Amino acid sequence: MKSIVVLISGSGSNLQAIIDACSSGFIPGRISAVIANKANAYGLVRANEAGLSTQVLSHKTYKDREQYDIALADAIDQHQPDLVVLAGFMRILTPAFVQRYHGRLLNIHPSLLPKYQGLHTHQRAIDNNDSEHGCSVHFVTDELDGGPVVLQAKVPVFSDDDAESLAERVHEQEHRIYPLVVRWFCQNRLQQHADQARLDGQVLAANGYA
Ligand code: GAR
Repeated sequence: MKSIVVLISGSGSNLQAIIDACSSGFIPGRISAVIANKANAYGLVRANEAGLSTQVLSHKTYKDREQYDIALADAIDQHQPDLVVLAGFMRILTPAFVQRYHGRLLNIHPSLLPKYQGLHTHQRAIDNNDSEHGCSVHFVTDELDGGPVVLQAKVPVFSDDDAESLAERVHEQEHRIYPLVVRWFCQNRLQQHADQARLDGQVLAANGYA
């Protein structure tokens, strides 16, 4: 059974979806630890309720990004994970960190990548009058929100949407697609080869599995 470490900064609703999918057996893996960079991340409550090991590693106590990422990698490696899952972990990672976990570092981003890398994705979709929006699960590379996409889900954008209503619709899809991608990884069906994601040996299209 694969060992998974999940990194969070906030609410942890994606963490919850992955916890539930591990408990039900949908994901053939177990969460070895949840690490947060913020002590007040609600996801820590969720992890504790599920009986998982948790750790807070605040970036504020490190002098720079490099030092923090070294400490973070040390904390992760205590658990010897097969997979590191970023679930709303709101930190830019150093190239050394990304290299260390090459091929076993996944992220979820609230947009249809390559659209809207970075922050405030829901508001930007509304401001641009987009008719559809969504979320993407991708392998992490040095390029921020730029690694190969594994799976996307689309939602409609309605004329009376605000960022909050749209985020809620996207979140529902996040909770569907992230456990599925983690399941594929834990089933040994998903690999990263340089800038490609492969599922069952097939190279996935730029916007992931369709
Ligand atoms: C999710 O919407 C996720 O896509 C986003 O943070 C939220 C975390 O929610 N991630 C990013 O913006 C990463 N760039 P959660 O804590 O409830 O899972």
